[in-house]
This record gives sequence, C-alpha cells and structure tokens, in this order.
Amino acid sequence: MQAKEKIILALDVDHQEKALELVRELKDYVGMFKVGMELYYSSGPDIVKQINDLGGKVFVDLKLHDIPNTTGGAGRALTRLDCAMFNVHAAGGYEMMQRTKADSVDEAARLGFTPPILLAVTVLTSIAQQQLQEEMMVSDLSVADLVVKWALLAQKAGMDGVVSSPREIESIRAACGPDFKIVTPGIRPAWAEAGDQKRITTPRQALDMGTDYMVIGRPITKAEDRQAAALKIIEEMER
Ligand code: C5P
Repeated sequence: MQAKEKIILALDVDHQEKALELVRELKDYVGMFKVGMELYYSSGPDIVKQINDLGGKVFVDLKLHDIPNTTGGAGRALTRLDCAMFNVHAAGGYEMMQRTKADSVDEAARLGFTPPILLAVTVLTSIAQQQLQEEMMVSDLSVADLVVKWALLAQKAGMDGVVSSPREIESIRAACGPDFKIVTPGIRPAWAEAGDQKRITTPRQALDMGTDYMVIGRPITKAEDRQAAALKIIEEMER
C-alpha cells in the first residue's frame, strides 16, 4: 500500500460544505476521509455519497453499540451507503460484532458492493485504569491487557481490525497477526502542534510499529497549506 493510502483524514467539522471543501482539496493526498458523529449527525447519511461522488473513500466512525439485531440493521444501512470502513464497540460483545459483520457482508453481496472494512473499538483512550476499576468494575485486568483480549475477541468474531492507540499497536500485532488491520489516531509529525493529544506518535514511528492506517486531523486541516502538510507527512512516511 502506498503511504498516501494509509492516511485517513479526520473531517472534524460540523457542516457538509466545510467537509466537502476539505475533500476536494485533499482527495489526491490522503487515502480516506473519516466522518465522525459531529459531521454525520449534522449533515446526515448523504455526506457519505457526497464524498464518494468526489472520489473519496469514507470511514464512518459511529462506534455502534446495541443489541445484535439493531447493529446488524445499522451495518446494513451503512453498507448501502457504500462506505469503505465503519466500526462497532468490542464491548457490545461477540454476537453483536459477528452479526454486524454477517449482515454487512450479506448486504454488500446483495448490492454487488465490496464489503466495508469492519473495525472494533476496544478501550477508549479516554478511559484510564482507575475508571476501568471504579466505574466499569473491571478489577483484574489492566487497560493494556483488556485491549489485547478484546482485539482477540473481535478477530474471532470476524472483525477486520481494531482502532487502537499507538501504544497498543505492537501487542495487538503480536496477538492478532499480520493481516489484522490496526488503525491509529494520536498521530503528530514532529513539526505539528500536539493540541489536546497526549500520547502521540509520529507517522514514521506508527508505521514502524506496524499500523495499517493512521487517522490524522488537525496537523493537516489546521495547517496554513493543507496540501503541503499532507505531502510532508507522506514524505516522512516514505523516508
Ligand atoms: O486532529 P487530530 O489528529 O487529533 O484528530 C484525531 C481524530 O481521531 C479525531 O477525529 C478524534 O476524535 C479521533 N480519535 C482520537 N483518539 C482516539 C480515538 C479517536 O484522536 N482514541
């Protein structure tokens, strides 16, 4: 895979026009666009088609978590939008993940589409060890161990990969093997502002650790010259 294809640009904006402007400007510089809850709930599902029509691939980051019948139906709906990737919470359990995958694959076959890459979110990076113990009542596992256990469960349930912090890439890769996709946010080139991201990794480091895709937002979207910023990241990855 070319370096450019590994970049997923986070479209963290609240309006369709702002998002489409970024897509027009950057579609030849990144591999995919991430539509998160803010943009999806502001502009509606049509945003996926609009981006596809401009030649961009879409990762719909809605982190589904419900009973299997409901996430299965949602997976069918997202598949009909012809997104390239979407995700569920591993905390929803084996059956929820498995059903969502099966329904998505079935819907894609019915329409003659390529099935979307389906990822699981393990432990959100905003959850600290103390919260795991005191609020989620998980007392016998560290965050790091739970991440690997859930990644293995996700793989068994047929997920294509996981979203993970750069810190967990190596342990997930070791447990789940070379074909399991790992998608990592928290990426900052050395020349970019960290902003609110704390445990950050450069694109080159993330690649060396074995990530497949990196989600990058502000280092590109807030740059004075956004195309130049994307190019600089691609060069850094290829070096
Ligand atoms: O602007 P920035 O590069 O920090 O954007 C990173 C993107 O990845 C945002 O859309 C953010 O919500 C998402 N993300 C993250 N950390 C996680 C999970 C998702 O930064 N643990």
